[in-house]
Amino acid sequence: MPPLDPETRRAISDRVRYYNDLGIYDFYRQPVELLSAAPKLESEIAVTMPTSSASRVPSQAALSSDPIAALRQIREDIGDCTRCVLHKQGRKQIVFGVGNPRAELMFIGEAPGADEDEKGEPFVGRAGQLLTNMIKAMGLSREEVYIANIIKCRPPGNRTPERDECETCSPFLMRQIETVAPKAIVALGAVAAKTLLAINAPMSELRGRWYDFRGTKLAVTYHPAFLLRDPRQKKETWKDLQMVMKELGLEVPPKAQE
Ligand code: URA
Repeated sequence: MPPLDPETRRAISDRVRYYNDLGIYDFYRQPVELLSAAPKLESEIAVTMPTSSASRVPSQAALSSDPIAALRQIREDIGDCTRCVLHKQGRKQIVFGVGNPRAELMFIGEAPGADEDEKGEPFVGRAGQLLTNMIKAMGLSREEVYIANIIKCRPPGNRTPERDECETCSPFLMRQIETVAPKAIVALGAVAAKTLLAINAPMSELRGRWYDFRGTKLAVTYHPAFLLRDPRQKKETWKDLQMVMKELGLEVPPKAQE
């Protein structure tokens, strides 16, 4: 094989680093003729997910121009996941994520609860209704944003996810973020904030400012389930959401100003 030109070499090394960030270290060559009309560089690289079968991974270039296909691929890679203990602790289904695959705004919660486990969609229970209202107050709809969780399976009794569960599951969330490529992310609650930012601090210190998350602006605010228990914090949450709206160039809807 002829030596690679520097640009291709750099592109491959960036891509390998990207997969390493996702926790993927095993790469192998696949005969090019097995692949369809993918761009040359990508077509020569196939990636094995740690526990999945060696299925063909479409090129990232092709996928990033089609986020629907890319999200479908991520869902396929998750499969009927058995990577952590949650698969044998009563989860009914994997709760992948929902919303606009090209959303400018992404909300990330903690883990599915009973309602989400039942319906297969994040934030559809009581906390979900509050989140939907928060989104509406921003002048947006659920369909316009993208909503996901740090982990995709319901922990038994809604316990806080264990660190290894977050670490096992979050590479798929990283791929969802990379695919949707939102302008801003809102981490809902301490588990989401601490997992994404690797910072251990109380919510009161984490909220109210911007963070850089791999080149994307990330804000932290209270989890809607917490707001149901302590509605006094809604005022602070609204300040956080207004900070996000300003960043996205959204006007405060007249109703929300009252
Ligand atoms: N709480 C979460 O963090 N996520 C959901 O999907 C539902 C409740």
